[in-house]
Amino acid sequence: MLQGKHILLGITGSIAAYKAAMLCRLLRTAGADVKVIMTPTAKAFITPLTMATLSKHPIAVEFYNPENGDWHSHISMGEWADCFIIAPATANTIAKMAHGVADNLLLTTYLSARCTTIVAPAMDCDMFAHVATQENIETLRRRGVIITESPEGELASGLTGKGRMAEPEALVAAIEAAIAQKKKSNTLDGRKIVVTAGATIEAIDPVRFISNHSTGKMGYAIAEALAVRGAEVELVSGRTNLAVPAGVKRTDVLSAEDMYRAAVAAFEEADGAVMCAAVADYTPEEVAEHKIKKSDDDMVIRLRRTKDIAAELGRTKGSRLLVGFALESCNELTNAEDKLRRKNLDFIVLNSLQDSGAGFGVDTNKVTFIDHEGRTELPLMSKREVAERIADRIEQFFDK
Ligand code: C5P
Repeated sequence: MLQGKHILLGITGSIAAYKAAMLCRLLRTAGADVKVIMTPTAKAFITPLTMATLSKHPIAVEFYNPENGDWHSHISMGEWADCFIIAPATANTIAKMAHGVADNLLLTTYLSARCTTIVAPAMDCDMFAHVATQENIETLRRRGVIITESPEGELASGLTGKGRMAEPEALVAAIEAAIAQKKKSNTLDGRKIVVTAGATIEAIDPVRFISNHSTGKMGYAIAEALAVRGAEVELVSGRTNLAVPAGVKRTDVLSAEDMYRAAVAAFEEADGAVMCAAVADYTPEEVAEHKIKKSDDDMVIRLRRTKDIAAELGRTKGSRLLVGFALESCNELTNAEDKLRRKNLDFIVLNSLQDSGAGFGVDTNKVTFIDHEGRTELPLMSKREVAERIADRIEQFFDK
């Protein structure tokens, strides 16, 4: 897949720069042509000689060669590249990228590059967790930059936590996915897809409610992946603090009943729906008009069943696409297969609460796809990658 591809590798001043040498080798072995840009600080961590030898090209660091005035054009490198990967990317470079600072060759190249950019953060866990860094990463992500997972583990500082650079093999996989993805944009042109996401909120009184731990991350990643491929996406969203992905129309709802109405209305005109929301199965029979006063007695709240949105869409779907999710804690496969049939879904994505790294709040997920032909178990991957796999399946459905 990487045969003949032009990969621009940006290296910044992090101890993880030594892994860039291995990344360069892996890319060359896969048949890619690799050019390297380094920030001035990166030279303290790995030498231009090492990278020039491995990449078989001279290394660009400064805007020009002071010896002979030879100009290193950031524009030509950005144009040459099929993919620009910055690995390792320090908190400093990420911050500058997010704010459009252009004080070295790597940054000017980023600002002028038209290809997909991948950023592999590498830093100490506290720097990584800092709200400034997280906001900068989110800004870049919103603008379409692919951010690789920073796994948890031992750091050069001696601390243990999140912030390590992803391993070179994972970075090669991210480059392959980005290049494959580029080919795929517009594959869902003209398709209208409804995605439900997040948790519903069932009011008890004006102050209290019943809800669940869903953050909406999986549903938002799916909405984004579908929109990138050209689909018109309507995201019916329960409570979450996530930003609306670019190109997605969001309808905010609170209760299961609101979500039911919004999803049913949106589905009327749609070609398909992905039901990712964690919808309350029960809601208080009555909502108190005023805040309920506490007394010395215990309290009983009577709950009634909510409507099953997925099942309702399944009843009316005809030949349209319907994808469901199942979060199970026991008898996972049989329960999910039962839901597939009962709700008339085309396929169901099963995530088990028993798998570490899967479930609420985390950025990773481990899922099994189940359709009427069988099961496909996927390894642990980021929710974004899971979203891409789901989008692949949706494409296959429409191609049939
Ligand atoms: O039956 P269960 O809640 O486990 O089914 C999960 C699937 O059904 C998910 O796709 C979820 O979004 C959907 N669902 C729904 N409306 C409900 C309950 C679940 O759309 N009221």
